[in-house]
Amino acid sequence: MSKTAILEIDGKKYEFPVIKGSENEEAININKLRDLTGAITIDPGFKNSGSCTSGITFLDGELGILRYRGYAIEDLADKASFLEVSYLLIFGELPTAAQLEQFETDIRKHTLVNEEMKGIIDGFPKTAHPMGVLAALTSALTAFNPKSVNVENEKELYQAVCKTMGKFLVIATWTYRKSMGYPLNYYDNTKGYVENFMRLMFELPTEPYKSSSVVIDALDKLFILHADHEQNCSTSTVRMVGSSHAGLFASISAGVSALWGPLHGGANQAVLEMLEEIHQNGGDTEKYLAKAKDKNDPFRLMGFGHRVYKNFDPRAKIIKKAANEVLGTLGVDDPILEIAKKLEAAALEDEYFKARNLYPNVDFYSGIIYRALGIPTDMFTVMFAIGRLPGWIAQWKEMRENKEPIGRPRQVYTGAPLREFKKPV
Ligand code: CMC
Repeated sequence: MSKTAILEIDGKKYEFPVIKGSENEEAININKLRDLTGAITIDPGFKNSGSCTSGITFLDGELGILRYRGYAIEDLADKASFLEVSYLLIFGELPTAAQLEQFETDIRKHTLVNEEMKGIIDGFPKTAHPMGVLAALTSALTAFNPKSVNVENEKELYQAVCKTMGKFLVIATWTYRKSMGYPLNYYDNTKGYVENFMRLMFELPTEPYKSSSVVIDALDKLFILHADHEQNCSTSTVRMVGSSHAGLFASISAGVSALWGPLHGGANQAVLEMLEEIHQNGGDTEKYLAKAKDKNDPFRLMGFGHRVYKNFDPRAKIIKKAANEVLGTLGVDDPILEIAKKLEAAALEDEYFKARNLYPNVDFYSGIIYRALGIPTDMFTVMFAIGRLPGWIAQWKEMRENKEPIGRPRQVYTGAPLREFKKPV
């Protein structure tokens, strides 16, 4: 017999079905609640509310499990490439060699960005944060690719997916080139996706660029680890914006803005700035732990804590190991890595952090790797966005394919009752 939940309001009982996910997660389906009772639920921050059913990513915060389409993140990070994982997330299955080759070829067809987009970049001051520029450029793609806005069939959707994958990478690097005053680079269709990222960022017209396989492999892994994370803030934003049938570029642009915040993707930049500050102040990690625990101090230990993970973040484990390996292979001796390890060890022993189940998250060690690879600090969140792109696309696509209704939460009004209109004197 299927499970139900009983709710009693004013002595009257109402029964609601309980649905089960494929990993036995249970949810009370309240979609008839208001019709039946006149009441709604309230759950700021959506700590207890599911916004959709989804077949893309499974996450168990207590056990520290993360899977894309059923595959363990550890396996994917170890054995797959970023484009393979992108295909898996977006289309549901791992690609065959031929399908992967076709996907790469189709992305390459869309790696040229309209030259007039450069005029938009020129309108920004050099000091603009790359995430703000990226959000604007992503939104501007709509104007230059109007056919990708109202996708009406599978073919148009596929084209929009390939366009987004191709052009987003290029414009993401342009935000950095602009800030440096360097000429904007073009994608080289004879080279791979992640290799192109490094070229687009760092190749100068004055000298040949030599790419390093260590760097490319490390970045590929980091992009995979960031590729999806079910209904987080930016992904929920992408789905919400897309639910009004806004196009893919507009929805992704909104996701970029949501990711930018320091409580979400912006944390990776904040972590490095925090570690640098600790280093410059003599490496006193205890002082910063005390600040993080002080309720009168707004400071939080950046890169610690997670809404869902209450045991450990499996991505952080992989990234910590990768940080050690990459820095070792590149021969980089970064005192910041030691400070990060010291801070982590102290926090894990601390009653405040233990009681609240606060562990390092994906952003704690990623910046240390980016730094070793030569990525500037204010580009860290852009790196997160490049990695998260296939997840946003997959979630947007799923939302449209499931024909989800427009997202429109309700509220409990707590403002003034009806008042007579009188101009203040
Ligand atoms: N430093 C100090 N105290 C913390 C921290 C932290 N990093 N994170 C949570 N707490 C405390 C918080 O003050 C609260 O304490 P109390 O119960 O005494 O009031 C308790 O732990 C629960 O915190 P919360 O803010 O209710 O938890 P949340 O689920 O709403 O927030 C979070 C999750 C990730 C926003 C939060 O842990 C945080 O601000 N972390 C620092 C920023 C960060 O690293 N963000 C990246 C998240 S992972 C990648 C991503 O999403 O992009």
